[in-house]
Amino acid sequence: MPDPLVIDNRKDSLFQVDREVFTSQEVFERERELLFGPSWLYVGHESELPERNDFRTRDVGGRSIIFNRDRRGEVRVLLNTCLHRGASVCRHPAGKAKIFTCFYHGWAYRNSGELVNVPSAEDYAASPADVYGGLHTPRIESYRGFWFVNFSGDAPDLRSWLGTATYLLDLAVDQSEDGIEVLTGTHNYELHANWKLLVENSVDGYHAKSVHHTYFEMMMELGQTPPMLGDADTNGVPPAGLGTEFDNGHATLIYPGNGLPLANENVVRNLAELREKAVQRCGESYATAVFDLARNSIFFPNFVLIDLNFGMILRTIMPVAPDRTEVTSWHIAPRGLDGESLQYRIDNALTFWGPAGLATPDDVEALEQAQRGFTARNEVRWSDISKGLGKARPAANDELQMRAWWRQWNALMTGERLPREVDEFVPFDTRTPQGA
Ligand code: FES
Ligand SMILES: [Fe+2]
Repeated sequence: MPDPLVIDNRKDSLFQVDREVFTSQEVFERERELLFGPSWLYVGHESELPERNDFRTRDVGGRSIIFNRDRRGEVRVLLNTCLHRGASVCRHPAGKAKIFTCFYHGWAYRNSGELVNVPSAEDYAASPADVYGGLHTPRIESYRGFWFVNFSGDAPDLRSWLGTATYLLDLAVDQSEDGIEVLTGTHNYELHANWKLLVENSVDGYHAKSVHHTYFEMMMELGQTPPMLGDADTNGVPPAGLGTEFDNGHATLIYPGNGLPLANENVVRNLAELREKAVQRCGESYATAVFDLARNSIFFPNFVLIDLNFGMILRTIMPVAPDRTEVTSWHIAPRGLDGESLQYRIDNALTFWGPAGLATPDDVEALEQAQRGFTARNEVRWSDISKGLGKARPAANDELQMRAWWRQWNALMTGERLPREVDEFVPFDTRTPQGA
């Protein structure tokens, strides 16, 4: 592998990434081991498992897993690979099960993992249950209902890993005193592009005006001021917004929100009521952060939370090949919304973020074009991520967020630790609200 892959040149305020990292099979395999091994990876939200024996299967960190609530009510992650010869013990995307039975030879496991039945067990001199115990259960931890898994034995605990970035999850959860829930229905789509391009894109404020101009024009025609084009200063956040980096490669861009495009009076009034309750619970400054600002956040390596006033999504970005990526996206909402407000958010999920919405297809097109451009890597070797480098307070449309992420990438892949660029900056009251 050529060296270095990331150039962080503070003297000339230049930050460059070798395009090799978007195409190379070797880099792809090293990422699986060195990045996805020791990092905390988002699995799912507790609201997806409301009852005992509920399960969801999904792929996390390249492994097939079962995310479930066992018969005693405990949330678990089980590796979905039979101890006998490796077949999946659960082949359904979601459902209810007390026992998972492997369809290959019929070994059966309790939903807490123990191997409880082996057909023709008398033929084994040593009992497989005694020899193998149960399905592998990797380390899991949660923060306010968000469950993460770690496949490495010696990672720090989840809270240490998230650090101050837990605050970004708080701001989503605290929209309602009852927290948030994942809404039914999932968007799954695939990109013919490297996964890191979507990581960049998820916190890229620079592309919004050009790639999403159709959306902005539509909003302007409807008399709405798009985010990042407004003129208000919200709670210390300037109209152009701010980029912020946290330890361990997490980063966010924060900007004055876009209000509620196309919302009717009831929806507007309902959100105002939620905001008023948040003021009473957590104070005006915190409520301003929750309701009047918008955020695009990346939790290293591949978990995204986009928290706009008109809707929120969670996204995981899974590499399947150097030039292929699978994306899963869930819409989340404050618990207890009235039907109209919920419908409004679901409409936005479909028309803005959905695979046929106003935002996502344009992003996908941009990323697939970039991937095609990397075929000329021999002639044009470096991608530039320098925008705003050297500024004391990079704006939301600078690229601090991506550089923070790339520095963590570089540290895990090469062992070289590049110093941070700016101090953590949270432009409002960081008092932990009740329930945190
Ligand atoms: S592979 Fe599961 S029972 Fe044989
Ligand atoms: Fe975009």
